[in-house]
Amino acid sequence: MANAQANIGVVGMAVMGSNLARNLASREGNTVAIFNRSFSKTQSVLDAHPEAGFIAAHDYKEFADSLQKPRAAIIMVKAGGPTDAVIEELVKVFEPGDIIVDGGNALFTDTIRREKAVRETGINFVGAGISGGEEGALLGPSIMPGGSDAAWEKLGPIFRSIAAIAEGEPCVTHVGHDGAGHFVKMVHNGIEYADMQLIAEAYDLIRRGTGKSPAEIAEIFAEWNKGELESYLIEITAEVLRQVDAKTGKPLVDVIVDQAGAKGTGAWTVQTALDLGIPVSGIAEAVFARSLSSKPAQRAAASALPGPDEAFVVADPEAFVEDVRQALYASKIIAYSQGFDEIVAGAEQYGWDIKKGEIAKIWRGGCIIRARFLNRITEAYAENPGLVALVTASFFAEVVTSTQAAWRRVVVAAAQAGIPSPAFSSSLAYYDGLRADRLPAALVQGQRDFFGAHTYKRVDAEGTFHTLWSGDRTEIEAEDTH
Ligand code: 6PG
Repeated sequence: MANAQANIGVVGMAVMGSNLARNLASREGNTVAIFNRSFSKTQSVLDAHPEAGFIAAHDYKEFADSLQKPRAAIIMVKAGGPTDAVIEELVKVFEPGDIIVDGGNALFTDTIRREKAVRETGINFVGAGISGGEEGALLGPSIMPGGSDAAWEKLGPIFRSIAAIAEGEPCVTHVGHDGAGHFVKMVHNGIEYADMQLIAEAYDLIRRGTGKSPAEIAEIFAEWNKGELESYLIEITAEVLRQVDAKTGKPLVDVIVDQAGAKGTGAWTVQTALDLGIPVSGIAEAVFARSLSSKPAQRAAASALPGPDEAFVVADPEAFVEDVRQALYASKIIAYSQGFDEIVAGAEQYGWDIKKGEIAKIWRGGCIIRARFLNRITEAYAENPGLVALVTASFFAEVVTSTQAAWRRVVVAAAQAGIPSPAFSSSLAYYDGLRADRLPAALVQGQRDFFGAHTYKRVDAEGTFHTLWSGDRTEIEAEDTH
């Protein structure tokens, strides 16, 4: 029987798993046990990183025996079936009080189900969102763990030791019980989709409006990254646009097929938002924009359809670029605002005590959506924990007030030029919808009552009403009709 030397284990030695294991091993006080279904992969990690001092296991029993009690192991395998398979094996060799962590991008309802099932064995199950890609896993990710308080007590110090540091604080917090961590990670990814789509639209508008090359636009993004838009995604966009294809000498972005892939977390964010009744329209448009891009047959069939007659020429390129920057900033705020609305609704629905300000804090470093203005979100929730819409907090309200004219010009220009800007325009429509005094929803209510007797409320009286639309058009209290 192996010596129980390791204080933490990692199952799954693909890039994310091995990088996370290396990150853990590099921190003072950690000894890391590793396991992979095929030992050859474990062996190659051992060979490549002798400095990590990994304890390698050939099977689950040996893995469990190499861990100090209470045992803690992080699963880093594909979401879905592969995760269930590993949990099933770990439950056989772990004991009550031990902790199984799923560090993959699991659907939060799967995490709720798994937590419930594993808890029955006395073993703790923690769904932890981990963001930051391969580099984050190795150097410091943002970690969003759910699960029980007891599990957090043991995991807290370990997670704090490997997380990214933002302004002196580790980017990890106990998000809430059972599936809360994976829920928040899902919304993180939804915001990531929206942010990426907005940046892509900004690039497209600038390129088609001003004729600038990708390399020139890279310089614009690099400049933007020095100001209020400073963020990881803006930074890497500049690098992507700068890249030249070795084979053709063209900008790499021009030789990449323009069909965006998706592993599903953005769609989950939207599906969940639909269930919760939360309008995450910017995120939804970002998901749909990827779907549209990936329909080559439909795109080919529609490619002969007409666009505007006149060519898109921007009179003042510098002013246009600044308008696009402001539109991007405003739309980005809407994406975060919608994401936080979803977190608030999810917390209410599932009984999680999620501290919104803490979430903004742990997204300041390590994760894909890290951005300068996340501190402002923390401040907004600290100032008013019951904030009903992030965009109404003073800082954000001021931003949209000062940028809305540019935002509108960009959406108008895009529509006139026939350049799709679904994320920009839906964000603006959301903003206008939210601030509207009266919405045409009143008419929709009338239509519903007309064909389905679905009833409506009046602005000047209590109660529920139904109109007898044909005949004498009398209005009656709905209760009387049943
Ligand atoms: C992260 C990323 C990461 C991954 C997603 C999105 O936070 O580190 O979000 O989880 O990039 O799976 O991938 P898709 O764009 O393929 O859906």
